Amino acid sequence: MKHMERTDQIFKNLQEELKKGSTQKSHPFRYFTLGTVGLERSARQRTVVLRKVSEELQLSFYTDFRSKKIIHIKENNKVGLLFYDPERLLQLKIEGLATIIKGKAIEETYSNGVPERARKDYTTALAPGTPLEDPKVIEYLKKENHFCVVEVTPYRIEYLKLQQPEHLRIRFSKRQELWSGEFLVP
Ligand SMILES: Cc1cc2nc3c(=O)[nH]c(=O)nc-3n(C[C@H](O)[C@H](O)[C@H](O)COP(=O)(O)O)c2cc1C
Repeated sequence: MKHMERTDQIFKNLQEELKKGSTQKSHPFRYFTLGTVGLERSARQRTVVLRKVSEELQLSFYTDFRSKKIIHIKENNKVGLLFYDPERLLQLKIEGLATIIKGKAIEETYSNGVPERARKDYTTALAPGTPLEDPKVIEYLKKENHFCVVEVTPYRIEYLKLQQPEHLRIRFSKRQELWSGEFLVP
């Protein structure tokens, strides 16, 4: 029972830290590595910004609907998220299911949540990743945008804190909407 209290407390803390990552600009969890695996089964990773963490621990980021990561997610919505805090030597490996949200449902997020200068990220005439002659000459769309939100619902979180005398490694799993943790050999 005591063990359970301990892992529950750690889960609460990690939830708080993730929330801070989405609200505090200098927090180490502001950026994370997103891993996807599409149909060709090779792992792809990239850095994205953590935009929102809901009460149910859904984690959101913004992207261009035409990007490779979206193609991957459409093929296979199982994704991996990697967070690392170098000061606390703390790593979170999150496994979850990604949902792509586009169109009317997120018009307000785009109008209020994306500053003018960042909108160009979602309005290039050519899709992101298209080869370019001159990086200074990029054409932007005036009316349309390809903005979308990806929301990840985690089902497993692995917590690892390097510390003395013993490192701490815990696997949290979600079953029937409830999270429980078990200690693992680090
Ligand atoms: C600091 C930093 C933050 C980034 N944030 C985002 C982001 O929030 N969303 C995004 O789509 N790409 C972001 N990128 C770019 C991605 O890492 C990636 O290069 C791009 O999205 C194309 O990835 P893809 O071809 O795998 O889809 C960021 C890159 C850096 C260096």
